[in-house]
Amino acid sequence: MYFLGINGSYRKNGLDEKMLNIVKKEFDKKGEGFEIINLRELDIKRCEACLLDDLKLCTPERCFKLGDDFEMIADKMKKAAGIIFATPVHWYAPSAIMWNLIERMTSLENTRNKILQGKPVSVISAAAEDGAQSAITNMIVPLIHAGMIVLPFGMTYYSGKEDDKETEAYLKRIVNNMVFLGSLSKLSSHDWW
Ligand SMILES: Cc1cc2nc3c(=O)[nH]c(=O)nc-3n(C[C@H](O)[C@H](O)[C@H](O)COP(=O)(O)O)c2cc1C
Repeated sequence: MYFLGINGSYRKNGLDEKMLNIVKKEFDKKGEGFEIINLRELDIKRCEACLLDDLKLCTPERCFKLGDDFEMIADKMKKAAGIIFATPVHWYAPSAIMWNLIERMTSLENTRNKILQGKPVSVISAAAEDGAQSAITNMIVPLIHAGMIVLPFGMTYYSGKEDDKETEAYLKRIVNNMVFLGSLSKLSSHDWW
């Protein structure tokens, strides 16, 4: 299977990347594919809030016309059996590039298509001190609204000060549960809406 990791960190070799690399190792061990994309390397324009003029204007096709990397990301999301979002905490919230993506993803859920519905999702987060819980909660609410299935025990956070072994155990659990849920093809064929 193919799984997708989306990194909202602004830097190379940060803690989000460290967590995603642990995740990748676990997927590798299971013989599953896992691709990491770094939002900082991509061009993702701002949401133009078309839906405020007319709800029907907010579609994937129209959003793709902005001609940036969003269509490529949406294609990978569609293909993925599960998605892991990794965001740094920026002022108790997800990073701006991550939130920008969440805003653009409105076009993927607004038409109630099956791009995200029934897809397992997990959110992990890096913080220096505090605020991971609120950043993760902020992320999870729109993902549920998009019809995604939040993994049981599907969140963890890391500041570099915790016991690495415990963080590793959380990440392993996430991979384990995501592979299990991802293998249930009935999840994506069900009409959740
Ligand atoms: C603009 C900005 C705001 C931040 N706000 C917080 C915060 O509210 N709480 C916190 O614990 N760390 C905060 N940090 C620190 C980062 O969350 C922390 O360094 C994290 O490791 C960054 O992720 P990365 O290592 O994947 O790059 C902030 C960092 C930046 C750049």
